[in-house]
Amino acid sequence: MDPTAVTPFIPRYILAPHVATPPEVARAALRLAGLGPGQRLVDLGCGDGAVAVLAAVEFEADALGVDFEPHWIEQARIAAKVAGVQDRVRFEQADALAVPLAGFDVVFLYLVEWSVQRVVRQALAQLRPGARIVSHSFAGDDPAPDRSVLVTDAEGQPRRLHLWVAGNAC
Ligand SMILES: C[S@@+](CC[C@H](N)C(=O)[O-])C[C@H]1O[C@@H](n2cnc3c(N)ncnc32)[C@H](O)[C@@H]1O
Repeated sequence: MDPTAVTPFIPRYILAPHVATPPEVARAALRLAGLGPGQRLVDLGCGDGAVAVLAAVEFEADALGVDFEPHWIEQARIAAKVAGVQDRVRFEQADALAVPLAGFDVVFLYLVEWSVQRVVRQALAQLRPGARIVSHSFAGDDPAPDRSVLVTDAEGQPRRLHLWVAGNAC
């Protein structure tokens, strides 16, 4: 079975409103997660797709972005074409909570505290040991992240990044 297969959906939960991660913060998050060439990344709630496109362009990763809003998926597909990485990046309209995660090396999140906690628990139950989840800004405390770092965005504002490594949580 294709581990990136997604099922058409009516989302039960809106996990976060749309706010984009700045590219320098996305870059720091993907570095923190140790994303490398040929690895597979999923952005759960991808918005305009910029994080997935950056993963393909700068990290040579294969990426999937999902969002329940069809206009974001249309825009994200255009962004992938413009960047010339449409062969490495796929965007699907889907419920982030329904995406099978077992085949991914890195899960990227920019949601809110309650939804990050829910998604992290769900992801850790599916990911192989050593796979990573990286979250921009928010983290629940159950499970607590393995690592949290502060980075500075282009406007000099601090941004927190959180990392969980599958197989490390109690
Ligand atoms: C804060 S934005 C993050 C966008 C992008 N990941 C980034 O960091 O730039 C959260 C996104 O999650 C999407 N979203 C919220 N609930 C969702 C759900 N249940 N399934 C799929 N996408 C969802 C929203 O439409 C929004 O685009």
